[in-house]
Amino acid sequence: MILREALQSATQTLRTAGIADASVEAELLLGHVLGISRTQLYTEPERSLTSVEAEHLWRLVRRRLDHEPAAYILGRCEFYGIDFYIDYHTFIPRPETELLVEKAVELAQRISHREEQITIADIGTGCGAIAVSLALALPQAKIYATDVSASALQVAEMNCRRHGVNSQVELLLGNLLEQLPQPVDMIVANLPYIKDCEFKDLSPEIRKFEPTMALAGGEDGLDKIQQMLEQMPGKLSYGACFLLEIGQGQGGMVTSLIKSYFPQASIELISDLGGIERVVKVGL
Ligand SMILES: C[S@@+](CC[C@H](N)C(=O)[O-])C[C@H]1O[C@@H](n2cnc3c(N)ncnc32)[C@H](O)[C@@H]1O
Repeated sequence: MILREALQSATQTLRTAGIADASVEAELLLGHVLGISRTQLYTEPERSLTSVEAEHLWRLVRRRLDHEPAAYILGRCEFYGIDFYIDYHTFIPRPETELLVEKAVELAQRISHREEQITIADIGTGCGAIAVSLALALPQAKIYATDVSASALQVAEMNCRRHGVNSQVELLLGNLLEQLPQPVDMIVANLPYIKDCEFKDLSPEIRKFEPTMALAGGEDGLDKIQQMLEQMPGKLSYGACFLLEIGQGQGGMVTSLIKSYFPQASIELISDLGGIERVVKVGL
């Protein structure tokens, strides 16, 4: 079989099974098997696949048909223009979280004129996507990255080493803010925010494969955010700020919750490109 036929056949198989973006997914799987980029696939469409390559491709297609996300099959994903190693222990970083990073970088650049090094904590770091992105964008910042999952932190460590920020990012195993060794200037968090009642409606890709502890936010989705707000006294330096990613429709409830802990806080809800309130920016 030649490359063009393999691509067409994999695309058709995925499309028939109802997999969204079947052609992109087929390109990713075939590119992975051949060790070439998606664009390179189109430079030699007549290349023959060996039987080993063809078998490998169909093994991957079968995993995708079983709803395993491509990021786990490939062991990688791209976030904020950076390549991250990923495995089953970590949540797959989503494009919408890039807005959180973008706003954190803007804010950090505004406040980093002060003489001391700015300190930022990424709470629930997972594979380290936010922490590594912030470290690369803000080379003067000290970043703490916490997670309750030791396995996720091992992946985060690999990503920190891979991108040369392991001395800038300190990984801490523990519940939310508990292990922070000093008050920080900024907290950034994409904590679990799926409501219990929403679980049954999640796609099988998410429900069957992503770690529940990275998703489950309790009855109203806000358990982890509330626990973190409770822990904040003593963990933030004077004039600090924090940014949270939230789920669709949670803006009003999160605002009230923050006001109940910090009545004087200035709170801004920032929408993503789809018009969904996605980031809460809080100044204290
Ligand atoms: C939605 S994922 C976000 C991962 C990553 N920050 C991102 O944006 O791609 C939530 C993360 O929070 C972690 N987490 C859940 N409960 C936690 C807790 N009590 N303390 C610290 N981290 C927690 C999970 O293990 C998971 O890695």
